[in-house]
Amino acid sequence: MPGSNKSSGDEKIDYALRQALKTPGTITEETMFWLVEKAKGMSLVVEVGAWRGRTTMVLASLVKKILAVDTWEPNPKKLRRDSLSDAMRKVGGDELFTEYCLRFSKEIREGRVVPLRINSKRAAGMLFVHMFWKKADMVFIDAERTELAVDIRAFGPLVREGGIICGLGYCERWPEVMRDVEGHAPGFQRGPSSIWWKEV
Ligand SMILES: C[S@@+](CC[C@H](N)C(=O)[O-])C[C@H]1O[C@@H](n2cnc3c(N)ncnc32)[C@H](O)[C@@H]1O
Repeated sequence: MPGSNKSSGDEKIDYALRQALKTPGTITEETMFWLVEKAKGMSLVVEVGAWRGRTTMVLASLVKKILAVDTWEPNPKKLRRDSLSDAMRKVGGDELFTEYCLRFSKEIREGRVVPLRINSKRAAGMLFVHMFWKKADMVFIDAERTELAVDIRAFGPLVREGGIICGLGYCERWPEVMRDVEGHAPGFQRGPSSIWWKEV
């Protein structure tokens, strides 16, 4: 636009953030800004734990392709009383998946968002073969905290050299996350909020 100081890259980022804020989700604005800075210009990102798509929305206009892994099912073993679990139960697994697919129907049609409705460990096994020749620039983990060690071990080999593996939940509230990150991602760094990340 004449007279505007914003580059088309900045406008893309503003758009991505505005859209993400309109999408229900758990990641904070701080996390979104961090993700934008890390992900812009990336080609292939694997997102583990997509839920209703807030993270996907941040990434969708910045990254060429997102492989979004989630079971999109409520966890029957864990009927917690918190707003996230209540929302999960209210919408139900299938409705949740449908909602996600509708939200990203254009990107899915174009092959830029690929929802993989399977457990993370199985997804990593499948993707290891699929991605043997083209690894991810980033794997972002925001799934079951008690399975983080398994996820780090399973998805680490899918990241290209110089790429990053990262996730949320590194804070005193979740000592199991701190323990698993320290044990399985030595040399990790901390970002804002509860972000942990490691260059591979
Ligand atoms: C905190 S939510 C993700 C929030 C999302 N990143 C956002 O932007 O709002 C965690 C998600 O991880 C998924 N999940 C948890 N454990 C999983 C596993 N082992 N495999 C696949 N998905 C899993 C859940 O179904 C849930 O949708």
